[in-house]
Amino acid sequence: METPTHEIIVADTPENRQRCIDVRIQVFHHEQQFPLETEIDELSRNEDVATHFLLRLTPSLEPVGTVRLHKPAGKQYYKLTRLAVLKDYRRYRFGKELVDSLHAWLKANALQLGHDGPAVDVACHSQLPVQGFYARFGYTPQGELFEEDGAPHQLMVLRMPL
Ligand SMILES: CC(C)(COP(=O)(O)OP(=O)(O)OC[C@H]1O[C@@H](n2cnc3c(N)ncnc32)[C@H](O)[C@@H]1OP(=O)(O)O)[C@@H](O)C(=O)NCCC(=O)NCCS
Repeated sequence: METPTHEIIVADTPENRQRCIDVRIQVFHHEQQFPLETEIDELSRNEDVATHFLLRLTPSLEPVGTVRLHKPAGKQYYKLTRLAVLKDYRRYRFGKELVDSLHAWLKANALQLGHDGPAVDVACHSQLPVQGFYARFGYTPQGELFEEDGAPHQLMVLRMPL
C-alpha cells in the first residue's frame, strides 16, 4: 500500500505536545493496556527537559506517531522513550523515520548541548517484541532483562558518532 503523505516536526507548542501524548495514550494505554498514569509523567509537561517529535499526515495534520528524547539529570547519555505509531499506520517506515529524525536532531544540536566528543550514547528500554526494530539502527542489548511498568524490557544502547 502507498505510504500516506506525512511530515515530522519537533512538537514545541503545548498543543502539539498534547497530540504526542494522545498518540501514546492510544498505543500504550488503549492498545497495550499499560496504566494511564505511566503516560502522564513530568517529562510530558516540561519542554525544557524533553524534545518531543510528532509525525502527522499531510495535509490533514492527523497525528499518527511520536517519540521523545531527553538527557537524564546528571548523566552523559540520552534516552529515547515513548516511540509509538498508531496501529493502522504501522509498517510504512514511520517508526524508522521517527528514530532517524531523533538521531538527526541530536547530531545537529550536539555541539550546542555541550558535546564535542566523537560520539554520544543513546539508550532505550525496549519491549521484547521490538528489540529487532532497535537492532536495525545499531542498538545493542546491555545487561539483563528487567521489569518496567509490569512488562519485561531490555536496555539497548547505541553509540552514535557525531
Ligand atoms: C515499534 C513501532 C514504533 C514500529 O513502527 P513501524 O512504523 O511499524 O515500523 P517501521 O515500518 O518503521 O519499521 C522499520 C523496519 O523495522 C522492521 N520492524 C518493524 N517492527 C519490528 C519489530 N517489532 N521487530 C523487528 N523489526 C521490526 C520493519 O519490518 C522495517 O524493516 P524494513 O526497513 O526492512 O522494511 C510500532 O510497531 C509501534 O508503535 N508499536 C507499539 C508501541 C511500541 O511497542 N513501542 C516501542 C516501545 S519500546
